[in-house]
Amino acid sequence: MTEFEPKIIGFLCNWCSYAGADLAGVSRIQYPSNIRIIRVMCSGRVDPVIILEMFANGADGVIVTGCHPGDCHYVEGNLYEERKIKMLKKLLASTGLELGRLRLDWVSAAEGQRFAQIVTEFTEQIKKLGPSPVSGKNPNLKILENLQAAKNAASDFRLRVLVGRELGLTEKGNVYKEKFSQDDFDSLLDETVEAEFVRHKIHLLTRAEPLPVKAIAKVVEMKPAAVLQQIVAMRRRNMITLDHVEGTTPFYKALEVE
Ligand code: FES
Repeated sequence: MTEFEPKIIGFLCNWCSYAGADLAGVSRIQYPSNIRIIRVMCSGRVDPVIILEMFANGADGVIVTGCHPGDCHYVEGNLYEERKIKMLKKLLASTGLELGRLRLDWVSAAEGQRFAQIVTEFTEQIKKLGPSPVSGKNPNLKILENLQAAKNAASDFRLRVLVGRELGLTEKGNVYKEKFSQDDFDSLLDETVEAEFVRHKIHLLTRAEPLPVKAIAKVVEMKPAAVLQQIVAMRRRNMITLDHVEGTTPFYKALEVE
């Protein structure tokens, strides 16, 4: 039996990590050839939606590498990426895909050896995890649907705004000059990620056909009362509407989100 050779996508920042990978190459430092490299101008340019798209298309692992903190050529693109990846990992946890398939790390232009070591370690880790559950001829459809819901949630401005405001809220405070502790912010992020994921999952489900709360609750594995709460919030955002009533049971249908 041939050994599993993972498909790994690597997003490398042009100014540090890509040069580090180049140095590994010219120094003839060996590392696994499983990584397909995509050069980006800054790690901060790598959008969570693109990463989710890679996973949905069967990538076994995704690694993002950027300049060390303090060295980003765009001041703090790498720190912004760190916050995006933190949010993405919370979102991925809801999809059923293993968190170990995603890694963020820092590599400078002088660290060819470090680049090779990180890629070697990550490849070994992915080999242990095995092929992605959504790759191959029999993809896990539940995880695939969850990835689509996660992608829609990550595209929504609510999560983007929250991630973008983490530093401001924890260091400068809100408009009333109230600062969030890191723990408070992380709890808010947890709650928002969870709610956005469920809302987008309900949206996808009811896009296919109008459904009653009970049927939705069964698929999303939540109590009907909790689903109803999400539907109320979704109706306020024009994500869903009442389609019809059968007997005394209301059926809900997704509206197209602008
Ligand atoms: Fe390298 Fe921003 S320029 S991470």
